[in-house]
Amino acid sequence: ELPRFVKIVEVGPRDGLQNEKSTVPASVKIELIHKLVASGLSVVEATSFVSPKWVPQLADAKDVLQGIRHVPDVRFPVLTPNLRGFEAALAAGAKEVAVFASASESFSKSNLNCTIKESLVRYRDVVTSAKKHGIRIRGYVSCVVGCPVEGTIHPSKVAYVAKELYDMGCSEISLGDTIGVGTPGSVLAMLEAVMSFVPVDKLAVHFHDTYGQALANILVSLQLGINIVDSSVSGLGGCPYAKGATGNVATEDVVYMLHGLGIETNVDLNKLMDAGDYISKHLGRQSGSKTTTALRKL
Ligand code: HMG
Ligand code: MG
Repeated sequence: ELPRFVKIVEVGPRDGLQNEKSTVPASVKIELIHKLVASGLSVVEATSFVSPKWVPQLADAKDVLQGIRHVPDVRFPVLTPNLRGFEAALAAGAKEVAVFASASESFSKSNLNCTIKESLVRYRDVVTSAKKHGIRIRGYVSCVVGCPVEGTIHPSKVAYVAKELYDMGCSEISLGDTIGVGTPGSVLAMLEAVMSFVPVDKLAVHFHDTYGQALANILVSLQLGINIVDSSVSGLGGCPYAKGATGNVATEDVVYMLHGLGIETNVDLNKLMDAGDYISKHLGRQSGSKTTTALRKL
């Protein structure tokens, strides 16, 4: 049975814009976030407090977070790779953060410059500090189906990292198919492995649409009872450390599918498309959303 409501976690301003060749000005990022909130999204991942040497596109994290108009019941989580990032996020007013580990040893090295175990040690410190400050913390697992270097990743590796993040106190675990290689079969096997360690209501899915499998993968996730879905307006994004990976599934396409299934999201598709138009225009590119492309032609 499908869920009646799905919470969408909009990751475009972070996962999308971290991968743009040109750096988007903070004012544009802030306006984009405001438009996303106006469409009804209740969680918008705003930016990352990571090393500007690693991700120069998000070097303006403080300006972006401080420039956002805060709205009751809307959350703006930010990524923090270590205690230093967490402290910077806290100082800039973050009320929610996310840590990101990998199910692939090679990807952990290229994304965080440390082993999976080392990243988990760092994250334990972040969680301890977050708890002291009453800050909610989300945990990501990346490369949950495949890794750009190692190829197929065994579900048991994903389950291990997801369990570690959950046990240390992450309130929600987002499972990321970073390079978008999963199909409903491999995703199902992975989710079943994770669900034997983490309750299904604590799980989110995060699909990149590299092979056009994202909506099918979301559907099998919903059928298993997952009701939190990450997506990116206009399908922005990719990952700077996963060559060839395209953007996240477009939020507009997810909303179109969910509403078609009779599932509520609280998101107004027209306003969401306006937000997508705004950023596509700024980037000088067509929307990556098929729904937008279709509806704009009518
Ligand atoms: P490092 O080089 O090993 O660390 O990077 P370091 O401790 O040697 O620090 C290097 C420099 O960065 C130093 O500056 C530090 O002070 C500074 P220097 O002394 O050279 O001038 N530094 C920082 N600056 C700002 N904020 C910080 C911070 N920490 C250190 N928090 C590090 C290690 C973790 C910092 C680095 O590897 C990093 O920032 N990685 C982040 C990469 C990233 O953001 N990747 C994309 C997000 S993950 C993703 O997209 C997947 C996901 O979407 C899910 C999916 O799709 O599957 C979530
Ligand atoms: Mg991602």
